[in-house]
Amino acid sequence: MSENKREKQNQVESLPDREVTFRVVPMPPDTNQYGDVFGGWIMSQVDLAGSSVASRRARCRVATVAVTNFVFKEPVWVGDVVSFYGKILKVGTTSITVDVEVFAERLHKDNHKIVKVTEAQLVFVAIGPDGRPQPVDRPDEDGFQQVERKKPLHIRQSVPVNTPD
Ligand SMILES: CC(C)(COP(=O)(O)OP(=O)(O)OC[C@H]1O[C@@H](n2cnc3c(N)ncnc32)[C@H](O)[C@@H]1OP(=O)(O)O)[C@@H](O)C(=O)NCCC(=O)NCCS
Repeated sequence: MSENKREKQNQVESLPDREVTFRVVPMPPDTNQYGDVFGGWIMSQVDLAGSSVASRRARCRVATVAVTNFVFKEPVWVGDVVSFYGKILKVGTTSITVDVEVFAERLHKDNHKIVKVTEAQLVFVAIGPDGRPQPVDRPDEDGFQQVERKKPLHIRQSVPVNTPD
């Protein structure tokens, strides 16, 4: 498939309409000898994004136990605004599987295109104070069963607009 055709397939109109896990702009030290951003840089950012989603759900330290799928669809360039969107696919006894989608906004190239650059699925394990796996859903210190957080952590308040009577 030609480069243009492939990029067209991965191009999107806008970023997903859901909470972004984080955004970051790669800099020259994040590149390889050819000037492209390292796959390893993206992998580490995906791991961070996934682990923050898993850790928020498990409310404890988590460890990455497996990366079950990782596809680099498009390159990332220095200066792109790269957005990571993590969502939980599955909660097991001690594990949490997270999907991470990555989009690049080409602010300095290609007339501000947005392209999906990567998608990955990772498995994290909730780790207890003894360094061993512990249940994701467990009683807290006061004995209450912890429940899944339904609301996003960041509640965006709309700015009230004064309308004339
Ligand atoms: C994470 C770790 C503590 C888990 O210990 P373990 O003895 O393997 O744990 P278990 O066999 O009980 O498995 C724990 C969970 O992980 C899941 N799991 C283990 N290996 C897996 C794999 N290859 N793929 C998917 N899930 C896996 C199990 O199914 C289980 O999930 P569940 O409780 O929801 O059913 C241990 O493997 C470890 O320390 N690994 C290194 C982690 C690390 O350093 N990561 C950073 C990479 S540099």
